Amino acid sequence: MDKFVINGPCKIKGKIQVSGSKNASLPILASTLLFDEPVELRNIPNVRDIQVMINLLRSLNKKIIISKNKKKITIYNSKKINTFAPYSLVKTMRASILVLGGLISKHRKAICGYPGGCAIGERPINYHLDALKKLGMKYVVKKGYIHATAKNGLKGNNIRFKKISVGATENLIIAACLANGTVIIRNIGIEPEIKDLCWFLCSAGANIKWIGKRAVKIIGVKKLNSTSYSVMGDRIEAATWCVLAVLTAGKLKINGFNNVKLLKTELDALQKIGASIKYKENQIEIQGKKKLKKINLTTKEYEGFATDNAPMFGVLLCKANGRSTITETIFENRFMWVAEARRLGARIAIKSNKAIIEGNAKFQGTDLMSSDLRASVGLVLAAISSSGRSVVHRVYMLDRGMERFEHKLRSVGVDVKRVS
Ligand code: EPZ
Repeated sequence: MDKFVINGPCKIKGKIQVSGSKNASLPILASTLLFDEPVELRNIPNVRDIQVMINLLRSLNKKIIISKNKKKITIYNSKKINTFAPYSLVKTMRASILVLGGLISKHRKAICGYPGGCAIGERPINYHLDALKKLGMKYVVKKGYIHATAKNGLKGNNIRFKKISVGATENLIIAACLANGTVIIRNIGIEPEIKDLCWFLCSAGANIKWIGKRAVKIIGVKKLNSTSYSVMGDRIEAATWCVLAVLTAGKLKINGFNNVKLLKTELDALQKIGASIKYKENQIEIQGKKKLKKINLTTKEYEGFATDNAPMFGVLLCKANGRSTITETIFENRFMWVAEARRLGARIAIKSNKAIIEGNAKFQGTDLMSSDLRASVGLVLAAISSSGRSVVHRVYMLDRGMERFEHKLRSVGVDVKRVS
């Protein structure tokens, strides 16, 4: 398994172009199951989770051509779509469940591996299944597989999610595009990646209208047309680079994400902690200050502070002056990075869903074990700000969502090399 060997501390300076968003690309790729016509997608990041989704779509008999520079993917339909999504693929990436909406809506049947949990939590899919049932899907779970049918296709209905769920929102929006009738979904996620999915589907003729801050009305259409679409930039990657600049009192110019508004909560927090930030529409210039201030953060659904950014901010707050807290409200187990950060010299206590972070920590490099994508990225940032040599193990975790990470790190002054 690959690891990163990092010698810190490093002075960070330079320019970063973030990649396309993994979390926008996954639902958009899954939704191509709705199409008969070819679909061309650009700015799809070349990361492991995308590869898993492509392999899954190929196993469902979608024909997929990837351009040489891997920046353009064309998805063609095939005469005979296979509607069996094997657990062997589903278990490696939970977002595979997003194929269920397209399969059941367009192909009226699906056998889909029931996704398990992961390091950050149990990750149930009850909201997905209950809502699809309201649109007419019938299903049983047998031997770890969801056997689903919708003999006459899906029908219109009103749905209100008990709790906001990004994935369930995306699955239902995908399924509703070809329903026979009108689907109104309330209490939905409004993450930019969900909006990107809607814009993509509307570019192909779907009839999706936002009728409230967290409500959408979808009038099913007979079919979707061919389209070409460029996926949004990755706002979590953009926030990661901003944190790295502040953590190392360095200076970065970051672009490639669509709009600085998508990072407002995180940039406001960084300004409070100790950063000077200049931004135009889709470019950020950020300079970290020497003295960092403590802050209390709580993760929330968008437009709140993103749970995916918590591990990176947690590492940053180890260096702030005074005691900070991060309260996690989305997942049960998002503090896997804490035990590893303690090995570097972090002083953090976990009380229920709150991390209490004593600042002014001096990190000494050591061996670190990755547990999930964002924790792995957080540990890399911690290693960069440590004195001496660190080895971050199991970086296949960050390969899931960070494209060419070590190359980008080296381009801004980090002494890092990948060792297989
Ligand atoms: C998406 O996961 C993202 N993944 C996650 O990013 C992100 O952390 C999360 O949204 C929250 O923003 C992708 O987009 C591929 P949820 P998702 O459904 O859709 C519970 C990363 O690092 N829940 O909004 O799985 C669930 O357990 C990943 O890129 C149910 O109880 O998140 C969680 O506690 C990590 N039943 C909460 O809701 C359900 O049916 C939010 O989950 C569905 C969810």
